[in-house]
Amino acid sequence: MKVREFKQFIGGEWAAPASGQTFESLDPSTEEVIATVGRGDAADIDAAVNAARAAFPAWRDRKPKERARLLYDLARAIEAHADDLAHWETLDSGKPLPRARGEVLSTARYFEFYAGAADKYYGETIPLGADYIDFTLREPMGVTAHIVPWNFPLNMIGRSVAPALALGNTAVVKPAEQTPLTALLLAELMQEVGFPAGVYNVVNGFGIEAGAPLTAHPDIDCITFTGSVETGRIIMKTAAEHIKPVVLELGGKSPNIIFADTDLGLAVAEAAKGIYSNTGQVCSAGSRVLVEAGIRDAFVEQLVAHTSRIKIGRGVDSPEMGPLVSREQYERVEVYMGIGREEGAEVAAGGARPPEFDKGYFWQPTILDRVTPDMRVAQEEIFGPVLAVLTFEDEAEALEIANGVRYGLVAGIFTNDINKAMRLARDLKAGQVYVNEYFAGGEETPFGGYKQSGFGREKGLEALANYSQVKNVAIRIR
Ligand code: NAI
Ligand code: MG
Repeated sequence: MKVREFKQFIGGEWAAPASGQTFESLDPSTEEVIATVGRGDAADIDAAVNAARAAFPAWRDRKPKERARLLYDLARAIEAHADDLAHWETLDSGKPLPRARGEVLSTARYFEFYAGAADKYYGETIPLGADYIDFTLREPMGVTAHIVPWNFPLNMIGRSVAPALALGNTAVVKPAEQTPLTALLLAELMQEVGFPAGVYNVVNGFGIEAGAPLTAHPDIDCITFTGSVETGRIIMKTAAEHIKPVVLELGGKSPNIIFADTDLGLAVAEAAKGIYSNTGQVCSAGSRVLVEAGIRDAFVEQLVAHTSRIKIGRGVDSPEMGPLVSREQYERVEVYMGIGREEGAEVAAGGARPPEFDKGYFWQPTILDRVTPDMRVAQEEIFGPVLAVLTFEDEAEALEIANGVRYGLVAGIFTNDINKAMRLARDLKAGQVYVNEYFAGGEETPFGGYKQSGFGREKGLEALANYSQVKNVAIRIR
């Protein structure tokens, strides 16, 4: 396969990074180089922030309905190029092609959804009595910085860049070094539909070399970050230096609570979906299944059978599960397998590299059974297709185990008892609760974490608050 060359996208121009350096992007299914990409550093970040700053006043001052039209046009262009975008996303990340396609269409949907909001995000008038007129204005922040991870490379750009641009902000995106390509393909489409130069800029590169200078740049106005707790902490400290707001969407160790009154087939299928989707590399993965004691044997037996049927393969061959994204993630999963075994978890399925692959970062879908809440494999995010199965006796114990981790991103509940579901939905410390369908929700629904899963909300109308600030104007009538 021919290695494709990608540059940076700054101020509407395609250019090599100032250093002239490049890095390689791999197909994690084959470990072959698929592209070389500009390796940006502080100089490129500075150029990109300056371009975004220069573009900001005119973009801000455009009529909201005109910004909306461009966003709608972009949504249609993304749909029209869905096959090409999905193809490159799959090669770059290893994810199954149908999943990549779904994420591309969801990206289009983000631009469509926030296009719809661009001219409908109102201020308020506030009653101060007959002698005053008081109203609020919602102004864009200015230059928004987006540090994006590799698990949903294009989709997460849509998620945060669409609301930012809709409200008149400009954006500098630093994609993950594992998956640098689709951010640039999106730039091509932005050019095609007529976004002004500098509204959307992409600087690829490594976290320390390109991500850190972006978060430390004095001329950005806010930061949206999705990734690890460790990097989130560093970014928050950096942001404190210049008093910049941050939105942090970090990890999870989300519980999927299965009660005995649930349809067993449904629970098994949803538990498998919750952990094996995207090879477990999902912040909201249901990586802990909490199953009621009375059905645990039957549940585990059926889940093992289900798991043994999952087809693993190269993303381009549309398997059910692709490889992990990188050698680092592969090694992380391997390390946690060792930890789980040492702690006394029982490997009920998988637990190793699938023997049929001698290349690529493949890992078998894996079930760790008889896990107890104190084990590291019950507390720490593995970010791979490794499910921890825990057992509970009653609702109170389920809640205690579910809330007993440092994270609080999502929680799943499977029961036919509406009161049980409502009690848990009330008491679970999680940013979103799924009842009887794991990953239920959409571009329209707010998403974000409690506790160390972060703060701020993305998606839905809630996200607009991240990219605007409120100005109150109080007028005395004389
Ligand atoms: P990471 O948090 O280091 O990387 C995410 C993004 O941050 C990348 O674009 C990276 O280049 C950038 N970055 C790294 N260091 C930076 C810095 N000092 N300043 C600014 N930007 C920086 O995550 P990594 O190393 O790829 O994965 C490690 C673990 O993080 C995973 O195993 C998983 O547990 C978690 N993770 C969670 C994600 C989520 O969706 N919440 C997504 C990706 C990773
Ligand atoms: Mg790659």
